Amino acid sequence: PRSAIIRLMLDLAEEMDIAVIEDAAYQSLRFDGDAIPPILALEAERKNGDLEACRTIYCGSFSKTLSPGLRVGWVCAAMPVISQLVLMKQAADLHSATLNQIAVASVAEQHFDSHIDTIRSAYRARRDAMLEALHAHMPEGVSWTKPEGGMFIWVTLPDTLDGADLLKQSLESERVAFVPGHAFFADGSGRNTLRLSYSTSTEGKIAEGIERLGQLITRALNG
Ligand SMILES: Cc1ncc(COP(=O)(O)O)c(C=O)c1O
Repeated sequence: PRSAIIRLMLDLAEEMDIAVIEDAAYQSLRFDGDAIPPILALEAERKNGDLEACRTIYCGSFSKTLSPGLRVGWVCAAMPVISQLVLMKQAADLHSATLNQIAVASVAEQHFDSHIDTIRSAYRARRDAMLEALHAHMPEGVSWTKPEGGMFIWVTLPDTLDGADLLKQSLESERVAFVPGHAFFADGSGRNTLRLSYSTSTEGKIAEGIERLGQLITRALNG
């Protein structure tokens, strides 16, 4: 289970004396299943709640929940880490735009929780629409994940197909876009995988897009 893997990772980080960077941009977009505790929370539990003794650097973002253009996020970590980050941020760009920070603080205080509820249920419905369409239109040999949160479904094609080639054909003949999975693999594998996003399209468009993609994949496998 996830918490056992994280405990091993924290043991290893301790042994090697290195930081753990927790990239939690999608944390609040979980719409199914039990809540997942942050790595930082699991580490803090081990250290009797003392954040100052933790090596995990938790990075949150408003990009996936409010707007990526505001460029506002937050870091939760031990004070010496925060002090160094403040210096680095100043050296990089002085600071994030003050007006944007004020706008985010105001939205976060007044509307954030209800907004999150809204996008969670929208994403759940869009995920369901995509899963249903995949089930209806993908040929045998194609498999996919059933995410409990976030914006993406991960598709695995038979080994004979290449996601990048398929994207080219899909844009030309079907006008359907996706991200070929290869770029997400550090070891150079994953050529037969795709990342599908259900975040910005309506349920009707998702159904149509997946039907077209399913037809293209069926033709590619038969041809
Ligand atoms: C896993 C992950 N972390 C971070 C980001 C970017 O966050 P920010 O816009 O706050 O830099 C993204 C989105 O592009 C992401 O997918």
